[in-house]
Amino acid sequence: MKVVICRNVSKVFIQKMKRGYILAESGQPFLQLFTAIISRTIRGYVKKTVALRNVSLDIKEGEIVGILGTNGSGKTTLLKIISGLIYPSEGEVYVYGYDIVRDYDKVSDKVFYITGALIGGFGISPLLSVRKNLEYIFKLYRIPKERVDDAIKILDLKEHAERPLGYLSPGLASRVILAPAFFIKRALYLLDEPIQGISFEAAKKIHEYIRESRDIGGATILYATNNIFEVENLCDRFIILDKGKILAGGELKELISKLALKTVVKVTVEGDINLEDLTSIFGNDIRIESKRGVLQTISLFTSDVTNTLIEIAKTFGNKNIIKDIQVKSPTIGDVFLHYVKLSSEKYEEKRKICLQVF
Ligand SMILES: Nc1ncnc2c1ncn2[C@@H]1O[C@H](COP(=O)(O)OP(=O)(O)OP(=O)(O)O)[C@@H](O)[C@H]1O
Ligand SMILES: [Mg+2]
Repeated sequence: MKVVICRNVSKVFIQKMKRGYILAESGQPFLQLFTAIISRTIRGYVKKTVALRNVSLDIKEGEIVGILGTNGSGKTTLLKIISGLIYPSEGEVYVYGYDIVRDYDKVSDKVFYITGALIGGFGISPLLSVRKNLEYIFKLYRIPKERVDDAIKILDLKEHAERPLGYLSPGLASRVILAPAFFIKRALYLLDEPIQGISFEAAKKIHEYIRESRDIGGATILYATNNIFEVENLCDRFIILDKGKILAGGELKELISKLALKTVVKVTVEGDINLEDLTSIFGNDIRIESKRGVLQTISLFTSDVTNTLIEIAKTFGNKNIIKDIQVKSPTIGDVFLHYVKLSSEKYEEKRKICLQVF
């Protein structure tokens, strides 16, 4: 069953701009700027931001779908439209078969939108303890009061439970924000940067819970983030957004094969390597990475890992000079990089840190 259907959804935000913004605009020919300043200083002007352009997608029941995109790509706008919090400017959105604009009441109790990006700015009162805040929040969602203790346990907030919410670090406070998501039973969760600012051990628990909600509870989950590394092992499918448009979508293996991304086999050997000899065996998809003393590392880019490993064993094995072999399959990060062209050094660095945890 299709839980979400978006057809040609666009969203344009219209803001009335006041004098303060006008001088910030530059790069226009002098005269044009001059007239613009004069007329706008007097009247102000209307600024249109296109947040989503012609977005169409289908989400099936029980899927965990990652919505990936850099800052300002339209992730939050998309989730808010699906949740019924804001209206699309154009296009149609159906949730469980109901038009989200016309029939919001029929699905409002099935959908749960939550954002971790409100860090520190949420809760009933910063002066009340974490426990009291949770009690009130749970009351709003009609979750039994007894579950507050469970929430404190799951979110590892035991030693902070009696402290005023306002004294908590932003990361701890955002765990409080997430608490209702663990106990409210909804069919469709729209999670917007849910672990932003949350440390690894708590984030890991939250991911476990997300998986359980799907595996046991049968929930459908849309998970928006600009940190591709955190969802690498969580999502069944990905949608890549950029400047409000869908650039690509699908399962990781589909995306990889569409781009014909290759696996990298990194071999470290002792002694000198003749690049020409190697290209005659492995072809041109080869790169010498580093040379440290007698150790040399080469990267072989391949679509047939088994065969490459056999060739490596044949070429170097009997000379007993192989010191290390690493096989690195393409990741959602590689796919994302291809589409949004981020700096690959930064990406590798970040990925190493995150993959140790997720
Ligand atoms: N209420 C609003 N009024 C005007 N412009 C808005 C509004 N909300 C979002 N935008 C603009 O729409 C575009 C998409 O914003 P959106 O918040 O959906 O991006 P995002 O992908 O969630 O970004 P981030 O990763 O920073 O959370 C941005 O250019 C943003 O400035
Ligand atoms: Mg956002």
